[in-house]
Amino acid sequence: MNELDSLVESATQLFAQSATPADLENAKAQFLGKSGRVTELMKGMAQLSVEEKKSRGAAINVAKQAIEAALTARRQALADAELQVQLKAEALDVSLPGRQRGQGGLHPVSLTLERIEGIFGSMGFDVAQGPEIETDWFNFTALNTPEDHPARSMHDTFYVEGGTDTAPNLLRTHTSPMQIRHAVQHVKKNRALLDAGQPMPEIRVIAPGRTYRVDSDATHSPMFHQCEGLWIGENVSFKDLKVIFTAFCRTFFESDDLVLRFRPSFFPFTEPSAEIDIQFQTGPLAGRWLEVAGSGQVHPNVVRNMGLDPEKYIGFAFGMGPDRLTMLRYGVNDLRLFFDGDIRFLSQFQ
Ligand code: PHE
Repeated sequence: MNELDSLVESATQLFAQSATPADLENAKAQFLGKSGRVTELMKGMAQLSVEEKKSRGAAINVAKQAIEAALTARRQALADAELQVQLKAEALDVSLPGRQRGQGGLHPVSLTLERIEGIFGSMGFDVAQGPEIETDWFNFTALNTPEDHPARSMHDTFYVEGGTDTAPNLLRTHTSPMQIRHAVQHVKKNRALLDAGQPMPEIRVIAPGRTYRVDSDATHSPMFHQCEGLWIGENVSFKDLKVIFTAFCRTFFESDDLVLRFRPSFFPFTEPSAEIDIQFQTGPLAGRWLEVAGSGQVHPNVVRNMGLDPEKYIGFAFGMGPDRLTMLRYGVNDLRLFFDGDIRFLSQFQ
């Protein structure tokens, strides 16, 4: 190997050993810098003859170009390596699933309440809201419920400290107090008409909400939902209840051949009274009678407590269980699932 070849080789080696761009620039200076070895060789040609300069100069140039090529290659290699390090540090796996934004939704019982309000709304019913902490008067007495009625016992009702006749003293056991509360407001609004002996606009209202009883198992929860319905006018009969409630059930369950049965029953605030049972003709529940509501013609004493003359005003009321309607609609077998807040259960209704 001649002197120039070994110069190229040692330059290439030194470049290869340079681990950083700064090292590489230092190595370059040793060969191509002002006092670098290639530059020194050029200077050394001063004493040579013209002929010798020609061939020696050409040979040095070849060596110089080889060194420059090695330098460029090493520069590129270092830049590539640096890029690789950077890419690795900023690595992004585009095949990973995106971070989901949790999507909220309505609780299945809320979906049912919305559905009930929509259907009764389309039949001309208002929606009323009332307090969950009630007075003895609205929850029992005004609804013709005698002092010794079992529903008033401590076993069935959550009482609150310090109640008086007018102060709230219990968690409402049903939404029926809303019959009185709403009717009283309605009568008040229409006082002038009534006093003038004019016909009063009919009362047509539903009142959904939370209710409470001392009860807890797979089909009973101490807190549950009810939806009251009330229709009072001068000429409202049990037939209207049948028509309205049949239309409601068929729409709610999207089942045109669903059948209703009015089973004689008793409530202090209605006379006569009936439990409303439904029967599906198809599907997993077909052929079974399922109780969905209590109902009846509003008792004259209750009409009187509304501030109306029972000789003139008559109507019906019903109370249904939205929790149970939700269970039937979706095939849920344990009421407690609605109140556990388990997202795996709830997300199935979105
Ligand atoms: N309030 C009754 C109950 O909770 C249901 C009902 C409402 C019955 C209206 C008749 C009329 O069982």
